Parts: sequence; structure tokens; C-alpha cells
Amino acid sequence: MAGRVSETERLRVQSGVWEPAGARVLESIGPGDGLRALDVGCGPMGWLRLLNVWVGPGGRAVGSDVQAGMLEAAREMVRAEKLANVELVEDDIFASALEPASFDLVHARFQLAPLGRAEAQVATFRRLLKPGGWLVLEEPDTASWRFVPEAPAAMELIGLIVRSFALAGGDFDAGRSLRWLLARPEMCAAMEVLEPNDPYLQAPLQFASSLEPRLLELVGDAALADLRQRVEAELSDDARWGTSFALIQAWERN
Ligand SMILES: C[S@@+](CC[C@H](N)C(=O)[O-])C[C@H]1O[C@@H](n2cnc3c(N)ncnc32)[C@H](O)[C@@H]1O
Repeated sequence: MAGRVSETERLRVQSGVWEPAGARVLESIGPGDGLRALDVGCGPMGWLRLLNVWVGPGGRAVGSDVQAGMLEAAREMVRAEKLANVELVEDDIFASALEPASFDLVHARFQLAPLGRAEAQVATFRRLLKPGGWLVLEEPDTASWRFVPEAPAAMELIGLIVRSFALAGGDFDAGRSLRWLLARPEMCAAMEVLEPNDPYLQAPLQFASSLEPRLLELVGDAALADLRQRVEAELSDDARWGTSFALIQAWERN
């Protein structure tokens, strides 16, 4: 069925989509040769490829995650792509055992949106940074998540996804808060145009798979199956293209 992918596969596809936007932030920050960088909640890919290159052979990129399955998937990717400057560690943002003031750059993407507790997360990130180190946050904003021609069922599903994030204490529009969460960040926004055959056009269905238990609580079995079917029909239309949600990027020195 269209859009039925595992959570690790969804995150892998998503990481590929946003890699060029991440590379632009690192370019703006400047060279990272020999530095220590952390990708918090890296999932199966995150920024590990980008940071492996950014820190270079004399530096170290660390990917942390609380889920063993995610770390295993990341480990496979690191092995397959021979990312020699990357190491992976199990760590919980809310009870981090990583050494304070030990990183030149801390990056977190899509952590505030699903997990909430933004101030607590940012406090952890700051504690892990050396004085003068870079904090980089990337979070979504749904405003541009649209289809042409319009896709009412997909928009209904996006509404449910946003509600399910909120019910779990998160905020799918966390990107909008970054300006106020940091002191004086530099900011950028990226948005992708999605052609009819682009797998990321199916993102609402991919989210629906990973959020299924929560969506079922909101609308029940039959209604969710019916909505899914209508969204599948809309998004398999060869003539329909779309625009992604926006990725809001904010970075500043600690
Ligand atoms: C939405 S995914 C984002 C993954 C990655 N940052 C990316 O942008 O592709 C959230 C990730 O955070 C991890 N995570 C959830 N709770 C966490 C916690 N308390 N501490 C560390 N990682 C956590 C999940 O296992 C998952 O890999």
C-alpha cells in the first residue's frame, strides 16, 4: 500500500530530503575540521553523513539516540557508507550522561516537534556545548504543506497528524517557536517542491503509519481506514504535485 513504510525507512527518506538544507547551514557556520559535533536523536541517519564530512578525519561526530533500534539502523548506515569519523551512543536527552561542555556543535532536528519540553531540551543542548559552540535547531512548520490540485483528504490527515503531536505533548509547528527559544539566532527556511512521483509527496501517509496507534485513538479504525484510502487515491494521481512542510532552521553560538 502507498506510503506504508517502517519508521526507520521514513526517517531515512526524510533525512535525504533535508540534507542539502543542512549542508547550507554548515556552510554558513564555516569549516569544522578537527571539531567535535553531536547529532541529538539522530535516528537512522539524521545529520551523520553531513557531520562526518564537516568534522573531517581529525574530528569526531557523535550520534545519540534513546532507542536501540534506531542506533542499530544508524550503525548499519555508518558501516555501509564507511563514515569513519562517526560514533554512536545511547543517550536520553532528558537525562543525558554525555560530558558537559564537550561539543563544538550540537544539532537537533525534529526533536522539539515530537517530544515537546522545548526549554528542557535546549537547556541540555547548551550544557553539552563548549562556550562559543554552535547550537543548530531544525523544526517543521506546516504552513506550506499543500497539494496542487488541492487534496482535501490529505489535508484532513495532516490535521489529524498535527492533533496527535499535540496530544502527545509535542507541536508539529515547533519551527515557529525557534526565534523565541534562542537568543539571537540566524535563521533560514527550506521548502521542497514535490513532483507527482516523489516519495516524500506520500509523507502524510508515512506519518500515518508511524502514528497509527495515536490516530486510531482520535478517529477509530473504520474512519482511519477510509481516510487512508481517500488519501492514497489523491496522492497516487499522476497529475498532483505538492509542497512540503517548511523546515525552519535556527543557529547561534552558545
Ligand atoms: C522524529 S525522529 C528524528 C530523527 C533525526 N533527528 C532526523 O531528523 O532524521 C526523533 C528521534 O529522536 C529519538 N528520541 C526520542 N526520544 C528521545 C530522547 N528522550 N532522547 C534521545 N533521543 C530520543 C527517537 O528515537 C528518534 O530517532
